[in-house]
Amino acid sequence: LVSRDGVLELDLIAAPARIEVGGREAFVQAFNDSLPGPTLHVAPGDTIGVAMHNQLRTPTNLHVHGLHVSSEGNGDNPFVSIDPDESFDYEFALPADHPPGTYWYHPHRHGHVAEQVGAGLYGAIIVEDPEPVAVTRERVMVISDLTLDASGNLAEVNQMQQMVGREGELVLVNGQFRPQITAAPGERERWRIVNACPSRYLRLQLAGQQVRLFSRDLGRLPTPEEVTEVIIAPGNRIELLVEATEGSSALVAAPVDRGGMGAMMGGAMMGDNEPGNDEPIRLLTLEVSGAPATRLAPVSRGPALRDLRKEPVVATRTVDFAMGMAGGMGGDRPMMGGGGRDEATTMMTFTINGQEFDPDRTDISVATGTVEQWTLTNSSPMDHPVHLHVWPMQIIDDGDRELSEPRWQDVVNVPAFGNVKVLIAFDDFPGRTVYHCHILDHEDQGMMGTVEAR
Ligand code: C2O
Ligand code: CU
Ligand code: CU
Repeated sequence: LVSRDGVLELDLIAAPARIEVGGREAFVQAFNDSLPGPTLHVAPGDTIGVAMHNQLRTPTNLHVHGLHVSSEGNGDNPFVSIDPDESFDYEFALPADHPPGTYWYHPHRHGHVAEQVGAGLYGAIIVEDPEPVAVTRERVMVISDLTLDASGNLAEVNQMQQMVGREGELVLVNGQFRPQITAAPGERERWRIVNACPSRYLRLQLAGQQVRLFSRDLGRLPTPEEVTEVIIAPGNRIELLVEATEGSSALVAAPVDRGGMGAMMGGAMMGDNEPGNDEPIRLLTLEVSGAPATRLAPVSRGPALRDLRKEPVVATRTVDFAMGMAGGMGGDRPMMGGGGRDEATTMMTFTINGQEFDPDRTDISVATGTVEQWTLTNSSPMDHPVHLHVWPMQIIDDGDRELSEPRWQDVVNVPAFGNVKVLIAFDDFPGRTVYHCHILDHEDQGMMGTVEAR
């Protein structure tokens, strides 16, 4: 779907869907009956009008992840709730200087996000480059995961899986199980990859090919960087330039250690529930054969990135992501011990600065037009990928080291018991929105806060 005359109008219908996955029938949820939903192509300065229709049995809404647009009214407003059989008209107006890149959309109705994204509700948004990039072809690859039961329904997710963040058994590329793609030697492909998994981190490797990192979340790197692997957290996107080399190569997701609950629970009863202990997973196969293609011109340099370290910082804050335990009666949230719902038991809490999400409370107030420094700390034994809506973050210290070059992302991993420093420019778009852990189970259970720019 391509915008015409600067306006892209479309209907998005969120509904149960029947698809085929790896030769099996699967009952999922999808936008417009397709997994992923339609890819939206827009240019900076365009307006996207989406009529969103909820044909699910649960409330939902729509978020345009990573787009730098207003969160007010019928813009990218995370506080909207669309009941079953209702519709809502969104309008997202991109500024003329919007960074190009790969973004995505997904529901953001608190309490249902992991369930709906995990069921298949997501799609890619491409913001066109101001100048063409010399490639033979582009591919959009939306990676997701789900688990099916014997009859093809989505498997139930238990409380332990919600606590560590659900990871599906089947890892899909564009809704397909292990697809095969082909290219000719010497061709250059641009892969736009979205991690749409609710909780799974992806350590992507493509052995046997020359791979350069072109973009991380937004904009592009001034010079593409040669890489052998890239780790992307849930919500992150990357763009890769692949120079096709004769032979057969597998894109794999190698294991990522994102911590676990072992330390909190004395190592007991975790076993298979610790994430990231598995073998590398094959996502797709690239077959390169045939007559060599004529060489393309080298990819030109991108513009220098803004460096907020050169701008005055007006406020510094610490934002702490924590998992804890609270005594109480069992409810809808994960519990320790096998107690039934009516027994007094220990519940897990997922907090930011000691508080669970409350849409009516404003946690952070900022002045529009200023730069702030946030130290994101993690006092829990699991990594949390931290995401802020509307305004991207410049990482100045990733927990291991201070970064010398500007690095911008909209989802930033904060390692277990670690901390990360970011700078944020609240240049424009006064309004109220959210920041949260992009392990969507954690977000649903309260690991989300509100920020208001005035
Ligand atoms: Cu991709 Cu607030 O989310
Ligand atoms: Cu987002
Ligand atoms: Cu988390």
